[in-house]
Amino acid sequence: MPAYANRVKNMQDSALYMRGLFGGMTNPDIISFGGGAPAPQALPADILHSIANEVLKSDARGCEALQYSNTMGLKDLRQAVVSELLAPSGVEADVDNVLIVTGGLETMNLLCQVYINPGDVILVESPAFIHCIDIFNMFEAKSIPCECDDIGLVMEDVEAKIKQYQPKIIYTVPTFHNPTGKTLTTERRKRLAELGSEYDVIILEDDPYRDIRYSGETLPTIKSFDKTGHTVMANSFSKMFSPGSRLGYAVARKDLILLLMDAKIATNSHTSSLDQVLCAEFFKRGYYRDHHQKICDLYRQRRDIMLECIDKYFPQGTKRTYPDGGFYIWVELPGGLDSGQLLAEAEKKNISYLAGESWFVGEKNVGSNTMRLNFANAKEENIRYGIKTLGQLFTEKLK
Ligand SMILES: Cc1ncc(COP(=O)(O)O)c(C=O)c1O
Repeated sequence: MPAYANRVKNMQDSALYMRGLFGGMTNPDIISFGGGAPAPQALPADILHSIANEVLKSDARGCEALQYSNTMGLKDLRQAVVSELLAPSGVEADVDNVLIVTGGLETMNLLCQVYINPGDVILVESPAFIHCIDIFNMFEAKSIPCECDDIGLVMEDVEAKIKQYQPKIIYTVPTFHNPTGKTLTTERRKRLAELGSEYDVIILEDDPYRDIRYSGETLPTIKSFDKTGHTVMANSFSKMFSPGSRLGYAVARKDLILLLMDAKIATNSHTSSLDQVLCAEFFKRGYYRDHHQKICDLYRQRRDIMLECIDKYFPQGTKRTYPDGGFYIWVELPGGLDSGQLLAEAEKKNISYLAGESWFVGEKNVGSNTMRLNFANAKEENIRYGIKTLGQLFTEKLK
């Protein structure tokens, strides 16, 4: 057999890890706090049923939904992004700054196609969203971790690493970070945008959780501080609409959007027309606001129950984050407990979570006591039972 491309070897560890992650997400017998899925009740099935019925009966819209489309994406969906999602976040953009992509992750992929040569450096958080690391590995980039504290990336370390490594991109999830749930402060957002401009580095602001907030004040995006076009926003409809629709959007300066579009033409021509039409109609017909309120209320309640149960049942000395939104609570277990080793025992009790160690990219002997818990996708009674059971297991092991 001919040799595989170099990228196959380069991504083999992260790819193997991702295989396991996606494989485990669909086991119905397990109470899973592990994946990143939204709650089934948060998927707007009834609304989409009625929209689809009408749309497919209409000659013009029905044809648009099933026909080839343009690569930038449906104009009315891009318009909804501008007016309903970007303007309220203080981002000045028009439809030509917006490219509709196939799932939020496609922006990372396209941006790497445009910028990354093998060996280029991308600065990432510690810990970092592993799925994007897998993409960076595929492009044979070198991901270098930067220090994070309770409020995310530490700017002094970012600046030092810019000087040391001359990265092309700094990748960050600034709001309700995956996996830690932390949120970068306004001052640091501003500073990061400035660093991008000062050192000529792309700031990749991956923000799929920003609109799912349960408490605290909305913060400006990094993009809103960008004066030179160095910040690129990646966002997704997966968490507030439907992950199966595979819809997301990139926001960038117009010349870069055109290059991302060229890369997308060469990759998959355009994002599914049917999914775009359904999503555009969802916004146009005014369903988003009530739906948004409904899912935030549901998730707020689940977050609060999970926090309460962690505090009640996890062993003394456990540390955890308090996410103001998003899906995840990050836990540090006390007393040398190893979350990776304990996962097998938890799974025997039909409960799973995500052990944190593999998310510390390029770092050794860090994070073996950490775990990410998704509170969004478990029913309340399952959160109570599952967290209590985990707490008992961890407490027993500590003894
Ligand atoms: C930080 C982050 N970025 C991007 C995505 C990608 O979402 P999508 O499913 O739309 O590709 C996710 C999904 O979990 C995420 O957590």
